[in-house]
Amino acid sequence: MALKINKYHFEFQELDSLEDLTSEDAFLLSEARKTTAIAYAPYSNFKVGAYAQLASGAFVAGSNQENASYPVGVCAERALLASVGQLFPNEPINTMAISYHNLNSNSSNRPLSPCGMCRQAIQEYETRVNQPIRLILSGMEGKVFIIEKASLLLPLSFNGDDLK
Ligand code: THU
Repeated sequence: MALKINKYHFEFQELDSLEDLTSEDAFLLSEARKTTAIAYAPYSNFKVGAYAQLASGAFVAGSNQENASYPVGVCAERALLASVGQLFPNEPINTMAISYHNLNSNSSNRPLSPCGMCRQAIQEYETRVNQPIRLILSGMEGKVFIIEKASLLLPLSFNGDDLK
């Protein structure tokens, strides 16, 4: 029995700051940063903002909405996807910028890493509309990561095909 080693190769862009982005991307990130202000995060004090541009050009925002019963809370990315699903069903999302303001810390300067549940939800939307979603990840300042396809963040994923 032969052992096979599979490798997963993943590349993403790293930029020093918002100033290095195109004006379109800089706008999305700047709006994601602003959207952190409308997060409802009295329990974690970790306010997340997401801001997306759809293929039609429309913009949709999302922020985390927490609950005293902690697991009831929803992340910014999934709040955004729920809005897109209701307001613009099946419309592709070109790019989603995500930022956070951590009120527990005096710096929010490292790119945000979306949680596993959101990676799964974002991937579902990519599959649903058959178009990858570009991600722009950052904090309130500092470095920016750009990932061409959100599903790159979820190798060996579970998806609808597994249910067939
Ligand atoms: N959170 C998000 O909204 N998105 C992420 O990608 C990571 C975590 C929220 C969930 C919770 O309200 C708070 O951040 C702390 O985990």
